[in-house]
Amino acid sequence: MSEAKGLIKSHTVKKYWMGATGLFLCLFLVGHLAGNLQLFLDGYEGRLQFNEYAVFMTTNPAVKILSYVTYFSILFHAVDGLVITINNRKARPEGYAYSKPSANSLWSSRNMGILGTVIFVYILVHMQNFWYEYKFGETPYMMSEDGQSPMLLDGSSVNGGMIENGEVVKAGESLGPAMRDLYAIVIESFQEPILVAFYVLGMIAIAFHLIHGFQSGFQSLGLKNRKYGPMIDKLGYAFAIVVPLLFAVIPVYLFLVK
Ligand code: HEM
Repeated sequence: MSEAKGLIKSHTVKKYWMGATGLFLCLFLVGHLAGNLQLFLDGYEGRLQFNEYAVFMTTNPAVKILSYVTYFSILFHAVDGLVITINNRKARPEGYAYSKPSANSLWSSRNMGILGTVIFVYILVHMQNFWYEYKFGETPYMMSEDGQSPMLLDGSSVNGGMIENGEVVKAGESLGPAMRDLYAIVIESFQEPILVAFYVLGMIAIAFHLIHGFQSGFQSLGLKNRKYGPMIDKLGYAFAIVVPLLFAVIPVYLFLVK
């Protein structure tokens, strides 16, 4: 195979995996949004429901496998995206300052590398905020409604129980891991206006990234034909606006109302 053919082939394979991982991450976003919308639930019941959801997300074996696929997809998509951006720049060393972008080339499609980098930084900060805090940090424990009894992962409270090294203990016997109060961490975090602004900016970057990325994912997988192309474009626009908007409303609402 000639060098040029080899390069084109490797570029096509890279684009294919960018598309596959990107569309998988879109599915992740829908699931994650559905879970996070529970933060709008009020009162003790809402807190309990969100914390039970967090237990499910971190203990269910099928969800754990999906989590690993998500981490892998984020890393792969980021590295592959960076390589494609660098290769494109090398192929056009003079940059866009000298070559006029075509009329139908959107700002977002010309800046996918920068938008992706902003999103990657957002994800790192976000994982530190909640994921790391929940797994390795000092997240408080969930208590029964009267604040007297610790709770097990199944949501039952243990009257007269105590928490020792993350376990609920009663009469010297360990009954299992204690439920943590991730809800409290999320509410507390979004009392900080800087963090709320950071999340809203992150969602704006995601919206622009998706305006190009959603339909481009279908294109790279060879699924965008003449018949379905216009529909995929419209769906992509709707997805790129509605999903980040709903994500952005959550921190703003928690800041203003909680
Ligand atoms: C208002 C916006 C958001 C809130 C309140 C939020 C909240 C959370 C919380 C509480 C966790 C830890 C518990 C869990 O795994 O469910 C988490 C994990 C995570 N979030 Fe978010 N999130 C938001 C937006 C996003 C966005 C836009 C992305 C991606 C661009 C994202 C990516 C992740 C990832 C990758 C994890 C780790 C998931 C896993 O371990 O399976 N989040 N988020």
